[in-house]
Amino acid sequence: MGNPRTLSAVYRASDKMTAIAITDTPVVGGVADVLQLVTAPVPRPSRHQVAIQLVASSMHVDEVYAAQGTALGRFFGPKDVSAASPYLMGSSVSGVVVAVGREVTRFKVGDEVIVIPNERGDSGSWATYRCVEQNYVMLKPPTLSHVEAAAATLSGCVAWGAIKIAQVEVGEHCLVVGASGAIGSLMVQFLKSKGAHVTGVCSGANAGLVNALGADDTIDYKHTDFGAQGRSTYDKVFDLVGGREVETAAYRTLKRKGRFITIVGPVRHIGERKLSWIELLLGVGHIVWRSIASRVWGPRYQFVASLPRHNAYAAMLSIAKHKIRSPIEAEIPFDLLEIQAAIKTLMSHRTRGRIVINFEADKQPGQTAIRSSSEMHLSGSFCQNNTQINQDMERL
Ligand SMILES: NC(=O)c1ccc[n+]([C@@H]2O[C@H](COP(=O)([O-])OP(=O)(O)OC[C@H]3O[C@@H](n4cnc5c(N)ncnc54)[C@H](OP(=O)(O)O)[C@@H]3O)[C@@H](O)[C@H]2O)c1
Repeated sequence: MGNPRTLSAVYRASDKMTAIAITDTPVVGGVADVLQLVTAPVPRPSRHQVAIQLVASSMHVDEVYAAQGTALGRFFGPKDVSAASPYLMGSSVSGVVVAVGREVTRFKVGDEVIVIPNERGDSGSWATYRCVEQNYVMLKPPTLSHVEAAAATLSGCVAWGAIKIAQVEVGEHCLVVGASGAIGSLMVQFLKSKGAHVTGVCSGANAGLVNALGADDTIDYKHTDFGAQGRSTYDKVFDLVGGREVETAAYRTLKRKGRFITIVGPVRHIGERKLSWIELLLGVGHIVWRSIASRVWGPRYQFVASLPRHNAYAAMLSIAKHKIRSPIEAEIPFDLLEIQAAIKTLMSHRTRGRIVINFEADKQPGQTAIRSSSEMHLSGSFCQNNTQINQDMERL
């Protein structure tokens, strides 16, 4: 990455940076087509912010939904986007601190950090620099590379939050629907670290990956109805795919005192189109009704939308302690064409783990690194060197 003092000096001397942005509100499904490489002012940290030079940023479908104003983007998405007021894309950050605001006490220039996704859906990470409130910044576990950390942060927070709500106990039988995805692949590993017996639902093509992550069994959803296994098979079913059919199948396999934990709800790929208000109300109504009614009749229905800041420290500690890693579907350079192609891959909902932008990678056409499960790094001993993060945790 280079000498932190030099990086900081270059940052202070720069007033323009490169970013990937939209300069007009895209049609639904058209975000990749309207992305542009823009020159933007270098952001300067306010009193409580740190300025970070990006090294890696992972890509998520929800970033695309935000940009096109679907799903939560309907409420928190960009407004009044124009060439004069571009919307810089990207939420995930792993990088190096190049400046700190006057009242920042927890970080210094040169610290390697990650950013905890915030509930407002702030963006601006597909850029050379980004400024973030110090409360949403934490030290990167030293045994994770920036690419690994960027790949694991959001998925780790979501998977950890779901497992916390599910109250998983040693020896419980857990089913993970969507085990090869970014969140699913971390969830399989977290559950194994908690001593659960894990079955992953994935396509046959991804069974090898899911087994390599530690799953005890896999079910190929393309050929087998997991609901046909019969009642009382599972204590917990984690739904990372969504849709009524997953819920129905899950309820055919759950124990009476089991739990169905969904991070998606009754509408699969909810951001693919702009739902009507009636569809939205029906979806929310379903979640509220099932959450209440299932308390009486069981198995419990739980919709999880926990805030990443409530889970980030515990999730990253567990990732480091148990040598958990996100599979990386592709590592791409900070390049407009590569990012446009990656968005299209992302929207196919077929990715294994995360696609990560590596800001230090060479921009050679065709150099995109596709990693297989066998290339996943599973080594590291972060917990020997985590004093500062432990101190941060105590402060929470
Ligand atoms: N509630 C929250 O707080 C929260 C936060 C972030 C994200 N989310 C949501 O969580 C969901 C998962 O996110 P993600 O990034 O992990 O997804 P993802 O990486 O895009 O998931 C893709 C994976 O899902 C698998 N898959 C697709 N259909 C499947 C099916 N019917 N059964 C089993 N596996 C299937 C695909 O495998 P194959 O190619 O083999 O089909 C692929 O490996 C998204 O809908 C996202 O919007 C929720």
